Amino acid sequence: MDILFIGDIVGSPGRDMLTQYLPKLKDKYKPQITIVNGENAAAGKGITEKIYKQFLNLGVQTVTLGNHTWNKKEIIDFIDSATYLIRPANFPENNPGKGIVFIKSNQLEVAIINLQGRTFLDSHDDPFKKVDELIQEAKKRTNIIFIDFHAEATSEKQAFAWYVDGRVSAVVGTHTHTQTADERILPQGTAYITDVGMTGPYDGILGVEKESVINRFLTNMPVRFEVDKKGRNQLNGCFITIDNSTGKATKIERILINNDHPFFDM
Ligand code: FE2
Repeated sequence: MDILFIGDIVGSPGRDMLTQYLPKLKDKYKPQITIVNGENAAAGKGITEKIYKQFLNLGVQTVTLGNHTWNKKEIIDFIDSATYLIRPANFPENNPGKGIVFIKSNQLEVAIINLQGRTFLDSHDDPFKKVDELIQEAKKRTNIIFIDFHAEATSEKQAFAWYVDGRVSAVVGTHTHTQTADERILPQGTAYITDVGMTGPYDGILGVEKESVINRFLTNMPVRFEVDKKGRNQLNGCFITIDNSTGKATKIERILINNDHPFFDM
């Protein structure tokens, strides 16, 4: 099983990059399943139904979310009917939506799970306890389990990955918008990267216009953050190969496309 994951799509620059490069990446990697994190897809915060459908039309099988899940209020009305849109599973039980989805490809099922960390983010249910439950649920149907762990702290992400090593196929971190160069396969077969990075502005600060962020540091005054649309763009992702019978990962490769790391077909 080959899975392509694209990190946090930020605003229209991120959507444009996905539209431009997803066909090329599919050509190169031939993934059976493509997953994107879409929690920043609508103007930097949240996602709309139109954008969710646009992602599916581009050939994305699942969209994951994070701490900005509820920023666009319309999501409350469509998330329950959006089969391939998942939000962190450790949100309160009474929240709309779900945190796990099963995708079928060539007679094989893949469980895709979204969870959120609690360090420097809103406190939700314990993602470590929650993942135990979800692994049990997923294992009834498949050995192939992919997790987007949306979290801020590297230590929490590493702890989480070691905690599930050998029990899931992959843990990819999202949220910080900066790709880490620590991709590896842990000893028991779980592919891991602390953060996949973001897809969108390359010349902003985490996707936001750099002037406003600098101003915030200079003045300590409240500043309105807008997605940077005047600079260059980037795409960050990773590609993971999983052994179908064991559910263990055999390969993880980082994908980084920007002006300093141009895309080559081969
Ligand atoms: Fe986030």
